[in-house]
Amino acid sequence: MFTPTGEIVAAARESGSGVGAFNVITIEHAEAVVTGAENAGRPVVLQISENAVRFHHGRLAPIAAAARSIAESSSVPVGLHLDHVVSDELFDQAAACGFGSVMYDASLLAYEQNVAATAAAVRRGHERGLWVESELGEIGGKDGAHAPGVRTDPAEAAAYVAATGVDALAVAVGSSHAMATRTARLDHDLIARLRDAVGVPLVLHGSSGVPDDELRAAVRAGMVKINIGTALNKAFTAAVRETLAADPKLTDPRRYLTSARDAMAETVTAALLLLAQPVTP
Ligand code: G3H
Ligand code: ZN
Repeated sequence: MFTPTGEIVAAARESGSGVGAFNVITIEHAEAVVTGAENAGRPVVLQISENAVRFHHGRLAPIAAAARSIAESSSVPVGLHLDHVVSDELFDQAAACGFGSVMYDASLLAYEQNVAATAAAVRRGHERGLWVESELGEIGGKDGAHAPGVRTDPAEAAAYVAATGVDALAVAVGSSHAMATRTARLDHDLIARLRDAVGVPLVLHGSSGVPDDELRAAVRAGMVKINIGTALNKAFTAAVRETLAADPKLTDPRRYLTSARDAMAETVTAALLLLAQPVTP
């Protein structure tokens, strides 16, 4: 069933577990994420990035409607989140297109401009009932170049959350977007200090590059929403390659898309079960 992201994240935070938020590019991604979550018996968040909207010729409504419909028919709670939104115009379409939450990404701006733009977006979002996430301390890899050295300062983060009124904060703690290998090392002490400083749920971006033990430790230290994108695309593409290589005469896309969807669903199930059980030290 469709459930606002804020409710899913609040429940995960309360129980000390993490919730997976998976990036959706095609309808098969959305179907796979929900199947994977149902198989794990866990809530999940479907998220569509501004980049993915660009891929769909800049049209938010069709892919959002598909994802929302898939969320509504699910047997587990499924949130719908608009991710890495830079465009105010796109941000303002979110509520009408069925999203329960948005990540407003002003992290490329200088601190004061980030605060001003985010505070304005939060005001507009809250008027429409949206839960708003934003980012402080730019997390690397958004332009393909990894910058794992960047860190979010806890005192600045506390001031930022107070000044903007955001509902959740994405922080730079060692992860980086679009990593093809799972070799990122996180700063767990910093995660705990950020958790204590900001008072809103923390969000880990670039989680595909983070190994299982590091993800568990991150949830234990205070990360709640765990964003995963590249891992699904790796599973999708590897499955398509394998299916096509095994049958060079194949023409029906449903054959290789079925393999891709199954591979993504397995990835989702494994991640959600991992995040559900952050082991105690
Ligand atoms: O917002 C989306 C995530 O940060 C996904 O990052 O593709 O590196 O897993 P990833
Ligand atoms: Zn991200």
